[in-house]
Amino acid sequence: MQTVRQLKALRKAVAAFRRDGGTVALVPTMGALHAGHMALVAEARRRADHVVASIFVNPRQFGPNEDLDAYPRRAAKDAAMLADAGCALLWLPDVETMYPDGFATNISVSGVSDGLDGAARPGHFDGVATVVAKLFNQLGPDIALFGEKDFQQLAVIRRMVRDLNFGIEIVGVATQRDEDGLALSSRNAYLDAEQRAAARALPRALGEAAAAIGQGEDTAAAIARAVAMLEKAGFGPVDYVALCDAETLRPVAAPDRPARLLAAARIGGTRLIDNLEIPARKSS
Ligand code: PAF
Repeated sequence: MQTVRQLKALRKAVAAFRRDGGTVALVPTMGALHAGHMALVAEARRRADHVVASIFVNPRQFGPNEDLDAYPRRAAKDAAMLADAGCALLWLPDVETMYPDGFATNISVSGVSDGLDGAARPGHFDGVATVVAKLFNQLGPDIALFGEKDFQQLAVIRRMVRDLNFGIEIVGVATQRDEDGLALSSRNAYLDAEQRAAARALPRALGEAAAAIGQGEDTAAAIARAVAMLEKAGFGPVDYVALCDAETLRPVAAPDRPARLLAAARIGGTRLIDNLEIPARKSS
């Protein structure tokens, strides 16, 4: 696997991949890789001839009180994992390469960015959309893969790609989970043993609420039970548990179309998110 830090070298390497007509997949990451990222790489390898992963801890998607400085950085270990998984190239730019002096452009995807994490983390999705658009322009991949754990991020990127005619296929990959159901996340490393044990309440609460809503129970009642279950397990505050349209992420009262049940809650200082699919109810 080649590791490239300069844009000129990146373009040259991608042009070489393309010379024989090979297709290119991009797996964008912020590093601190785990089995969830490796599932993206594995899926990318099934779908394209050459897989490029990027590692860039993007300052523009962290709020002023968020964990940018504390965010785990371990490029050497990540690079070894990517090489073992069959990545052809690691794009590892620094902040000056991504945001040179005078950088003044912001991409804002309205609507789908507004609620849920967009409300709790103002500016977060502008930062994500801007850096992902840059990565797309730097590489010009045929496809790009993102985890469904960050479901709102995936919806924002899909909207941006449609709106700006990027012509890149966006592939969402199912959330990878620990044995007790907790979604894999780089932020799980912040949990101490007690918080980690309690955190399993998040997938459980979501799972029970999703099953109840799927069986036709009142959505508000199912959500209230999920919130109570999270608080009892030690989560607080619970930012949201919400049933939303799977494409627009507008809140819905019932899953008349494909919907998603999404949650964000803090345990200790760590904010965890998760979501589950709710298939559309059949109309009788
Ligand atoms: O999901 C992430 O790791 C990041 O938000 C992404 C997509 C790499 C953009 O910085």
